[in-house]
Amino acid sequence: MSPANTDDQVRVIDTGAPPARYARGWHCVGLADSFRDGKPHTITVFGTELVVFASADGTLNVLDAYCRHMGGNLGDGTIKGDTLACPFHDWRWKGNGRCAAIPYGRRVPPLARTRAWTTLEQNKQLFVWNDPEGNPPPEEITIPRIDGAFSDEWSDWTWNQIVIEGANCREVIDNVVDMAHFFYVHFAFPTYFKNVFEGHVASQYMTSVGRDDVQGETAKEVGGKNVLNSEAHYFGPSYMIDNIVSEAGGQRVEAVLINCHYPVTPTEFVLQYGAIVKKLPGLSPQDANDMAVKFAGSLGRGFEQDVAIWERKTRIDNPLLCEEDGPVYQLRRWYEQFYTDVAEVDEKMTARFEFEVDTTRAVTAWEAEVAENLAAQRADA
Ligand code: FES
Ligand SMILES: [Fe+2]
Repeated sequence: MSPANTDDQVRVIDTGAPPARYARGWHCVGLADSFRDGKPHTITVFGTELVVFASADGTLNVLDAYCRHMGGNLGDGTIKGDTLACPFHDWRWKGNGRCAAIPYGRRVPPLARTRAWTTLEQNKQLFVWNDPEGNPPPEEITIPRIDGAFSDEWSDWTWNQIVIEGANCREVIDNVVDMAHFFYVHFAFPTYFKNVFEGHVASQYMTSVGRDDVQGETAKEVGGKNVLNSEAHYFGPSYMIDNIVSEAGGQRVEAVLINCHYPVTPTEFVLQYGAIVKKLPGLSPQDANDMAVKFAGSLGRGFEQDVAIWERKTRIDNPLLCEEDGPVYQLRRWYEQFYTDVAEVDEKMTARFEFEVDTTRAVTAWEAEVAENLAAQRADA
């Protein structure tokens, strides 16, 4: 006997393969000051090891970690003045990649030069430019300034990171269009959801309300019904600025969330997130920072909810979608530009594209589900 579905077309998952290269663009590697502790820092990124060190004047430099002399790891070296000294034979490397001195040698070979990576400090964070073609960043491709990060009226950044193994970083990007998972994974649901992609920027505009039937930590923290207005923009392949206004229990909180990542290998990435919160009138700086920490904590739990999904899901190149799923394929086409040589970038990847998800049906279904759950909880009590 043949299986019942012989005559039906069974959808087959195409897992594809993670890209063989790393995205062209600015990648945030952490809070700038965290690299200014007088020590070199190793970061494993783009399938290799890099080292970050601060020159005497505080300038942050990024070099290949492996010393061009005999391969020593500069991440274990020592900062000496404006140079990073290799732990193996003390060759001194400058931030521009040139070897400045070999203390035991008569002269420095004229071609003693290692790779210095292009860096940018913005919003008190450090960025490294990656381009497999080796070109410098075009002027218009930059990371915009966040005024709150430089203002006394805002808290300091919180900063956290999670290493995600067994997944390509495209999984985080998919979130930009994924309206429905907010209800099932994050215990809130969008009532308004719109995406705009243009050039190197991908945006998500969302209004969402909390689920008051969920007794999880997240719901408790935000105190039941809360309304969140969020305007999130990816500037390039890996750095998202999310401007959030949250209203709960008559309290209005303004925050900026950073959601960024960098690839370690094609199947591992480091997710980083941080937040600043605008101080409420009458709140002491300490209380404002505490509030930012608390706010960032709930964001962190949000990411953990995503991570739990990513760790168990498969890569899928041909997702099967319904109308309310948003423009997954268009988003991936936008994302593809960062994995394509500049000369090959198709106009379709960068052309303006807008899509508003009609949330009517979803909101009706979700409100009914929440009401049912609440009634069942009351009956149990
Ligand atoms: S390997 Fe770095 S100084 Fe020799
Ligand atoms: Fe998510």
